[in-house]
Amino acid sequence: MAQSEATSAIHVSDLVVGFGRQIVLEHLSLDVRKGEILGLVGASGGGKSVLMRTVIGLIPRRSGTIEVMGVPVGDRAIQDRERIAGRWGILFQQGALFSSLTVRQNIQFPLRESLQMSQSLMDEIATAKLEMVGLTPEDGDKFPSELSGGMTKRVALARALALDPAIVFLDEPTSGLDPISAGDFDALIKTLQQTLGLTVFMVTHDLASLNVVCDRVAALADGKIVAIGPMRELLQSEHPWVRAYFHGKRSQMLQPKVS
Ligand SMILES: Nc1ncnc2c1ncn2[C@@H]1O[C@H](COP(=O)(O)OP(=O)(O)O)[C@@H](O)[C@H]1O
Ligand SMILES: [Mg+2]
Repeated sequence: MAQSEATSAIHVSDLVVGFGRQIVLEHLSLDVRKGEILGLVGASGGGKSVLMRTVIGLIPRRSGTIEVMGVPVGDRAIQDRERIAGRWGILFQQGALFSSLTVRQNIQFPLRESLQMSQSLMDEIATAKLEMVGLTPEDGDKFPSELSGGMTKRVALARALALDPAIVFLDEPTSGLDPISAGDFDALIKTLQQTLGLTVFMVTHDLASLNVVCDRVAALADGKIVAIGPMRELLQSEHPWVRAYFHGKRSQMLQPKVS
């Protein structure tokens, strides 16, 4: 068990990931602290989703180490055990719900997959998770096609929370939502962090999310984390990509206020 375990929920060191001749992550290191909401920004196609998928063991790495809650990731047997233990929940970028299943069945999917559990217990859990994300038991009977964008994200989050994970991975959870729905979703994430002690690792381009919800922000450029810290520190970063991202023409219109 690693030393970093006391404070790190996720510890990534010297990670190299590539596809064929393309190197996507190049000696990347990153720590996500227990109980924090860490926002990850980076150019489109820069490797944010690849980083997330590598951390959870879905994409093989060429070298480097990854520990989640002090346990090395990579060993298939460990991975399966950890998934069953529900150490993490995931809301993928293309995190579509199963369209032929009801909301309740979608939320129960990870339970059904991993655990021997009675239907009545699964129903109780689904109801609790619906409430946790601000939906009603009646919403559980709906099909995905009957949901608004904001509701769909909430159901996907409820499904990610099904196994009571310590960490949730959110890949652009508010993209495609209107600003009010996105703000509501952000508030929900913040509440869950505070009430459940969740650690949240979130890819987002939403400046409001970064400014209001994230405890720290990490910037991915050239396959590495080039800056990490509270938003006010990122805004002062000298790194050219980080400067362009936060102080470029488009962001001027939306420049977040920092004290
Ligand atoms: N399974 C894969 N096979 C080959 N190339 C991939 C795969 N997944 C991602 N890539 C490539 O890795 C790069 C980073 O992708 P991605 O992590 O999805 O970017 P983003 O930062 O927008 O999330 C892109 O060039 C993408 O084409
Ligand atoms: Mg992505």
